[in-house]
Amino acid sequence: MTEDFNVKLVEDVKSYTPDPLYRKNAWMADYEKTYAKFLADPDGFWERMAKELDWIRPWDKVRDWNYPYAKWFTNAKLNISANCLDRHVNNSRLNKVALIWKGEAGRERIFTYQKLLSQVARFANGLKKIGVKKGDCVCIYMPLVPEQIIAMLACARIGAVHNVVFGGFGAQALNMRIRDAEAKVVITADISIRRGKAIQLKAIVDEAVLNTPTVETVVVLRRRDPPVDLHENELDFYELMAGLPDTCTPEVMDAEDPFFILYTSGSTGKPKGIVHTCGGYMVGTYYTSKYIFDIKDKDTYWCTADTGWITGHSYIVYGPLAVGATVFITELTPDFPDAGSYWSLIEEQKISIFYTAPTAIRMFMKMGESWPDKYDLSSLRIIGSVGEPLNPEAFEWYYRVIGKNRCPILDTWWQTETGMHMITTMIGEPMRPGFAGKPIPGIEADVVDKDGRPVKPGNGGLLVVKSPWPAMMRTVYKDDERYRKYWYTIDGMYAVGDLAVKGKDGYIMILGRADDIIIVAGHNIGTAEVESALVSHHAVAEAAVIGKPDPVKGNSIKAFVILRVGNQPSERLKQDLLHHVRNTLGPIAMPHEIDFVDKLPKTRSGKIMRRVLKAKELGYDPGDVSTLEE
Ligand code: PRX
Repeated sequence: MTEDFNVKLVEDVKSYTPDPLYRKNAWMADYEKTYAKFLADPDGFWERMAKELDWIRPWDKVRDWNYPYAKWFTNAKLNISANCLDRHVNNSRLNKVALIWKGEAGRERIFTYQKLLSQVARFANGLKKIGVKKGDCVCIYMPLVPEQIIAMLACARIGAVHNVVFGGFGAQALNMRIRDAEAKVVITADISIRRGKAIQLKAIVDEAVLNTPTVETVVVLRRRDPPVDLHENELDFYELMAGLPDTCTPEVMDAEDPFFILYTSGSTGKPKGIVHTCGGYMVGTYYTSKYIFDIKDKDTYWCTADTGWITGHSYIVYGPLAVGATVFITELTPDFPDAGSYWSLIEEQKISIFYTAPTAIRMFMKMGESWPDKYDLSSLRIIGSVGEPLNPEAFEWYYRVIGKNRCPILDTWWQTETGMHMITTMIGEPMRPGFAGKPIPGIEADVVDKDGRPVKPGNGGLLVVKSPWPAMMRTVYKDDERYRKYWYTIDGMYAVGDLAVKGKDGYIMILGRADDIIIVAGHNIGTAEVESALVSHHAVAEAAVIGKPDPVKGNSIKAFVILRVGNQPSERLKQDLLHHVRNTLGPIAMPHEIDFVDKLPKTRSGKIMRRVLKAKELGYDPGDVSTLEE
C-alpha cells in the first residue's frame, strides 16, 4: 500500500544534539522514560497532569472513550480563567508580569497577573450586564491588543463560548462565522494597525453583521482619537466596564462544557467550527506549555501567531497563562518598521522562548542574516516552529543564525482540531532537520497505510493518532458527521489529513496535506472556499484552485477561471476578481495568479481534477487519468 504515497526516505540526515544541560534542567528530563510511563498507564499520566491545576470538583473518571466520542475528567468542575489568573494571584505571582504588549512608535503596555485579573473581571461583569450568559456565543474580531485577550478570558470567566475570528478575514467570511456560531455579541475595534496603516476593522464588522439576527450588541474598542461614532446597538469597550466591580466569581464549568468554537478550512466551501471543551483543553495546553516548551518563571515567552488562530488560543493565551508565564505580544510585523523589528524586540524584551512559523523563517532568510546579526539574541533559550513543514534549509538557518547553534528547535506538529502539540522533538533530544520528531508523551501517533497498518520505517503514508487525548476537538459545530469522518476514515484512528514519512528511528517527517487544503503562509485555505468566492462573482461560471510551491509562503494560490458567456478576459477583470476574493474571504485567501480558461479537467461524474491541473502547471506526470472525462 505504501507505494500509493510514492515516498521513500533518504536516511542520511544530520542530527544535532543540544547541550546536556537542557535535558538536565528541563521539566521533563527523560523523553523515553516518560513516554514508557505514559504507555503503561495513560490515564495515570493525564491524571498527574490534571492534578497540577485547580479544580472546583474532581473527576469521577479520567477518560470515558466511546469511539469516536471521548469525555475527559468526567463530572469535574473548573474554570479556565481562574486557572490562568486567580491561581497565580493567590500563589505569589500576583505582581508577576503576565502580559507585555508592544505597538507602533514604541508604545508599550504591561499587565501584571493582578491587573489582568481585575480587567478581565470588569469586562466579564460588562458582558453579564449586556445579557451574556453561560453557553452564549461571543464573536471576537480584534487586532492583537491586550483587550483581545481580556475579552477571551472574560468569556471563559462567565462560561460564554468564544468564537475568535482572525482580524485579516473579510466581511463575508466573518458573517458566515457569526451566523453559523449564532453569536449574540460581537467584540471588535475601530481599527487594527499594520505597518503604520490603519485597517478599518469596524467597517468590515458593519457589513458582516447585516443579516445576522442573533447579534444583539457590538462592543467596540475605540483606539482612534477623536473616537468613532457608535450606532444604536453599539457600546464602547471601556464604557461597558466603567464603574463595574473588579471581581467576578468564575462560572462553575463542567469539564465537558463547550469552551470555544474556532473555524478552520475544510475540503468543502464551508469552514468547520471546531468545538473544544473546558477541562481537557485546559490540561492539554497547560501540560504542553510547561513540559514541551519548558516554560519557567524566569522566561519571557513570545509566540508570533495571531490570537485568531489556534496557535494563539493555545500558546499565547491559555497554555502559557495557565503555567503563569510572562507573555509578550506585539502588533508589529517582522518587516516593520524595518527587517530587524523582531530581533530588536528579542533584544529589548530579553525573550527566552520564541515560537514562530516556517513562512516567517523563510522570509527572515530572504531578508538576510545581517538583520538578526545587528542584535543581541543571547537571551534566547528555546526556539519553536509551527504551521507547516520546517524544511531542512530553514531549520539550518534558524538553528545557526537565530539559535546560534545552541538553542533547541521545537518543530511542533499539531492542528486546530488537536488543540495542543502532538509531535515534536523534546528539548534535549537529538534534532533532525526536516523531521518534526516523535509523538510527545500522552500521544500515540503513527504513519499508516490506507488500511491502518503501520508503514515500514523509511516509508510514507497517512499520519494518524491512535487513541484519544484530552485537548481533542469534541465535534464540528452543527455538523457532527464531519467530526465522525476524522475517526471513521481509518477504522479506530483519528485521520489527521496529512501525509508523513516515518524514519528508521521513529522520527516523523510531515510532508503536507493529503486533501484539498492549501497552506499559504501558515494559513489553511480550502480550495473550495476560494472557488466559491470566485464563482460568487457575476462574471465567473466555474473556477478551480490549486496550490503552487512558493519559496517563502510555502504555497501560493493559482486559480483557473471559466467566464460566463458575454465576459471577456482582461487585466481589469482579473483585478476585479482579486478584489472580490479579498472582500469576501480576506487578503490571506487571494490568488497569486489567475488564468482564464475554456475548460477544466473533470471526472465523468463532473468533479474537477485539481491533481491534473497541478501536474500540468508544475510540469509533472499527472498519474492515473482514467477517470478523466475525455
Ligand atoms: O498540515 C499540517 C500543518 O498545519 C495543519 C494544521 O493547520 P491548523 O489547524 O491551521 O493549525 C496550525 C497550527 C497548529 C496540519 O494538518 N502543520 C502544522 N504544524 C506543522 C504542520 N506541518 C508540518 N510541520 C508542522 N510542525
